[in-house]
Amino acid sequence: MSEIAKLTLGNETYELPVTTGSENEKAIEIGKLRGESSYITLDKGFKNTGACKSAITFLDGEKGILRYRGYPIEQLAEQASFLEVAYLLINGELPSKHEFETFESKITGHTLVHEDMRAFFEAYPRNAHPMGILASMVCSLSTFYPESQDPNRAPKAVELTIHRLLAKIPTLAAWAFKHSHSHPFVYPVNKLNYCENFLHMMFKMPTEDYEIDPVVVDSLNKLLILHADHEQNCSASTVRIVGSSQANLYASISAGVSALWGPLHGGANQAVIEMLTRIEEDGGDLEKYIAKAKDKNDPFRLMGFGHRVYKNFDPRAKIIKVSCDEILNKLGVNDPTLEIAKKLEEHALKDEYFVERGLYPNVDFYSGIIYRAIGIPTEMFTVMFALGRLPGWIAQWKEMVENGEPIGRPRQIYVGPNKRDYVALDKR
Ligand code: SDX
Repeated sequence: MSEIAKLTLGNETYELPVTTGSENEKAIEIGKLRGESSYITLDKGFKNTGACKSAITFLDGEKGILRYRGYPIEQLAEQASFLEVAYLLINGELPSKHEFETFESKITGHTLVHEDMRAFFEAYPRNAHPMGILASMVCSLSTFYPESQDPNRAPKAVELTIHRLLAKIPTLAAWAFKHSHSHPFVYPVNKLNYCENFLHMMFKMPTEDYEIDPVVVDSLNKLLILHADHEQNCSASTVRIVGSSQANLYASISAGVSALWGPLHGGANQAVIEMLTRIEEDGGDLEKYIAKAKDKNDPFRLMGFGHRVYKNFDPRAKIIKVSCDEILNKLGVNDPTLEIAKKLEEHALKDEYFVERGLYPNVDFYSGIIYRAIGIPTEMFTVMFALGRLPGWIAQWKEMVENGEPIGRPRQIYVGPNKRDYVALDKR
């Protein structure tokens, strides 16, 4: 017998169906509420509202659980390659060896960007934020592939677009970095794997060979996996709602890049390093900054702390924190911001303000320390988040299309002026 929720409004009682997910999560389906009662629900920030049913990622904020298609993030981060995880998120199953080799070779074959797009870079100022470049470049890709704009989305055309996005975004990201440093662009080298190729395009200089460091490659692979999806976060929801209008996948991903840029979302990893550097330059007075974070009259927040869903440790932050020590030791890097970050976490988690609100380090708190150790500059941190999140965005968009989800169009409660008549300008 399926579960029913009963809602009494005035003298009427309405019965609403309850949906139970595969991990026993419960939702009240309100699709018919307005038609039957004229009431809608209101939930600013959708803190308690589900937008869809999804089979991609499961997370439990109270228990600190995160799984991609049922596989624990801890196992994938340790044992899988990022492209394997991309295949898993997009297609629902881990690839066989043959499936993986085919997938990898298709992506390798699309790493070049149309040469005419190089001219776009020349127009950007050298200090342009790379997220601004990436968002526009991704949408511009759609203009070179008109078949991708078919609102009916032929599966083969969608598959080709998926391969092109996974292949070309690392190239575009690396070129944005090269442009900002007035360095010559480096083209992809097909004998290199996904992470090696990106690092090569980022750091190869014409004057010398670039030596691939396996420690750096492994660190990047792990970070990309840890960022690959996170169910209905702000940017994934943006990708879904833009795609729900039958906008093409390039345009939907471009919108996701823009949503991720915000410092409350993916932009936090850049904001964390800027915050830790500010604390270090200000003499390392941790209590001063913890007090500022708690002060409602102070706009300062502890960046990298807190999460809409995790009210316990973000499992990704736990893995990244351990990796920080390992990678910095292997690379012989001594970064004072790591010690500041650890002390800040220790002090904050002894403070009831943070504990009672369930504010723990999130994925962004330690990730920037690793990015910096492997040579990624601060302004590129959120681009790295976008590189990792790309397969998740693609998977969410594809699931929305395959499930035939309707165009996203929330309702509202109007609180503006009631009906009033126009008064002519000369009478006001
Ligand atoms: C990501 O959704 C996802 O899954 C996102 C993400 C993903 O993988 O896609 O996990 C990636 O975006 C991680 C979050 C990165 N952002 C930051 O680190 C920015 C700092 N954190 C916050 O701004 C905040 O915690 C959010 C935005 C992450 C969550 O905000 P919520 O859920 O809207 O919670 P809230 O702002 O209502 O805060 C609840 C309380 C408030 O205090 P009270 O009104 O109860 O007194 O906690 C306080 C907030 O003031 N609070 C903080 C705080 N975060 C929340 N106080 C100080 N420092 C903070 N960082």
